[in-house]
Amino acid sequence: MRPFALLLPLLFASACGPSSSVDEGLGVIQQLDTSEQGITAFVRSGQYTSWLAEPSVHDTRAPHGSKVRVFFNDVVARSLREGNAIHPVGSILVKELYEDDGKTLRGHALDVKVSEGAGKDTWIFYEGFGPTYANNYYGRAHSTCHGCHSDGQDYVTSPLP
Ligand code: HEC
Repeated sequence: MRPFALLLPLLFASACGPSSSVDEGLGVIQQLDTSEQGITAFVRSGQYTSWLAEPSVHDTRAPHGSKVRVFFNDVVARSLREGNAIHPVGSILVKELYEDDGKTLRGHALDVKVSEGAGKDTWIFYEGFGPTYANNYYGRAHSTCHGCHSDGQDYVTSPLP
C-alpha cells in the first residue's frame, strides 16, 4: 500500500472529526492549557470571572448569540491601557454568550495570544456551547473568526471597560 493511503484517513480524522481534543501543541500560556480540552475546562470552571469585566451583559454587535459580556486578563488589560498596537503573548479575552434573557449562559468564546508579532497566526480562537462543549471552534488563525477580528486592535475588538 502506498504510504499516503494510510496517512490520509488519519489526517482527516484529526482535522475534521467531532473530537474535542484538538491541540495546537503550544502548551500552557499564562496558566492556560491552550489545547481545546484545556480551554473548555478553563471556561467551564469560571476562573476568568475574577478578571476585569464589562460592567454588565449587553447586546452583541456580532452573530455570537444575542447578549454578551467580555472579560480581560491582566496582560491584555495593561496592553490596551498602554494603547499598544500589538498585544503581548499571554493576552487572554473571554466572551460569555447569553440567551436573549441576558441571564442564561449558553457558551464561551476565548482568544489567547500565543506568539509575538502581528497577524492572525499569533492567536488561538475558541468558541464552545453548553451543555457538552462538543464540536467547538478551535484553532490558531481560525478561519471563522479572524476576519471580523482583523478590524480590531491586534484582533481585539472590545474597548477596555
Ligand atoms: C461577524 C463578525 C465576527 C465574527 C465572525 C467573530 N467575531 Fe468575535 N467579536 C465580534 C465583535 C463585534 C465583538 C465585540 C463584542 C460583541 O459585540 O459581541 C467580538 C468579541 C469577541 C471576543 C471578546 C474580545 C474582543 O475581541 O472583543 C472574543 C473572545 C471573540 N469575539 C471570539 C471570537 C471567536 C472565537 C470567533 C470565531 C468562532 C469570533 N469571535 C468570530 C465580531 C465577530
